Amino acid sequence: MKPTASPLCENLTNQPFPADFVWGVATSAYQIEGAAAEDGRGASIWDVFAAQAGKVVGGDTGAVACDHYHRYREDVALMQSLNVGAYRFSIAWPRVQPDGAGAWNEQGWDFYARLLDALDEAGIAAHATLYHWDLPQALEDKGGWRNRDTAKRFAEYAAEFARRFGDRVRTIATHNEPLCTAMIGHEEGRFAPGLKDRKAAYQVAHNLLLSHGLAMSAMRAVDSGAELGIVLNQSPAYAAANTEAARAAARLADAMCNRLFMDPLFRGAYPADLLAHLGADAPVVQPGDMALISAPIDFLGINYYSRIWAGAAAGEQAPCALGMTDMGWEIYPQGLTEHLVRIARDYTPPPIYITENGCACADVLEGDAVHDGARVDFLARHLEALRAAIAMGADVRGYFHWSLLDNFEWDSGYAKRFGLIYVDYATQRRVLKDSARWYAAYITAQRNGATTQG
Ligand code: FCB
Repeated sequence: MKPTASPLCENLTNQPFPADFVWGVATSAYQIEGAAAEDGRGASIWDVFAAQAGKVVGGDTGAVACDHYHRYREDVALMQSLNVGAYRFSIAWPRVQPDGAGAWNEQGWDFYARLLDALDEAGIAAHATLYHWDLPQALEDKGGWRNRDTAKRFAEYAAEFARRFGDRVRTIATHNEPLCTAMIGHEEGRFAPGLKDRKAAYQVAHNLLLSHGLAMSAMRAVDSGAELGIVLNQSPAYAAANTEAARAAARLADAMCNRLFMDPLFRGAYPADLLAHLGADAPVVQPGDMALISAPIDFLGINYYSRIWAGAAAGEQAPCALGMTDMGWEIYPQGLTEHLVRIARDYTPPPIYITENGCACADVLEGDAVHDGARVDFLARHLEALRAAIAMGADVRGYFHWSLLDNFEWDSGYAKRFGLIYVDYATQRRVLKDSARWYAAYITAQRNGATTQG
């Protein structure tokens, strides 16, 4: 299929990316694996949270999800049919260390060994994330990420992963989106473990960063050859009006979403304006923490979905000139360009991967097809925005589309579909959407120098 399903982007999609650019897809363990009680896996905070009434739409849980634990071979074959060269996935900590401390579960490690074998055979590079939100419940029972001790347990787990598999994966990210763990999990209470406590949330943010620093140092000691880094969700914040109040709101939103993590990682300090805003809710930092947190990383993963529209009057929305996704998130590809250029200007980041980008659509299965033109349009526009950022000097080395498969979308359960591949949950049948075929063709065109399309 010629990658021209997006008429508006037709003339843009034949622009070449760098020849060695990494084309990938992303998933995470709890969202796809299922097999929640198999082969010695321990309970995670998401098992416990999702089991509580009213926490997840439809009462859905990740107990079966996409049954990827049993169907990983089929899923790797699907990745091959998409022509991707890279796969980003996460390790379920409770699968490999059921109590989050002490004994390793060899059956759990074996699953990841089998997955890596299948990826090797398919010629697909593995990009691992150690923590994509599924903390062993046993650690939550001891205070979870509110407890500094969890950071030490995390570093032990990270070092063990690096020892076993560090030579078989291209990158290892410590955390996925610590902002969501901290704020949505501990201040808003919409994600596990479901707390509503701002002070706890900021302490969690700090303890997550600390755990990143400790894990980096433990993995450096292993020296496996994998590139080591972290994945942050970032959104540029725009003032909703040309007023000082709206500009102040945008600065604060930027501090809370972006600088909260970027400043400690790259400058060794929390933003002063954020600390002033938090007052007594600012995190407790111990001597030595910031040096650990700001130790060099090999890559930065950025997940981009939308922008923040800050300081709007009550009931007033972002312009949404390109519409909204099925999550109600504004489609704003230009924000990706502007944000990457800003990051390159304000920090000295290492090479960047776009580790997630994608959209939920209200997809409908029609026979053997899903005509998700809106996702093709979203994808084409964001790739063009990314190419523009690279042309303006941002050092971006790869793009991972979220997601390979429709999957368990956290508090939205199975109601929101992000996949390039449709999953019929009743039968576990996978069906390539139009967007999957478009992405496959796009990647081929890029490999051929992107000169034959358009
Ligand atoms: C990101 C998460 C990922 C998925 C997408 C839609 O915040 O990292 O697991 O839920 O959003």
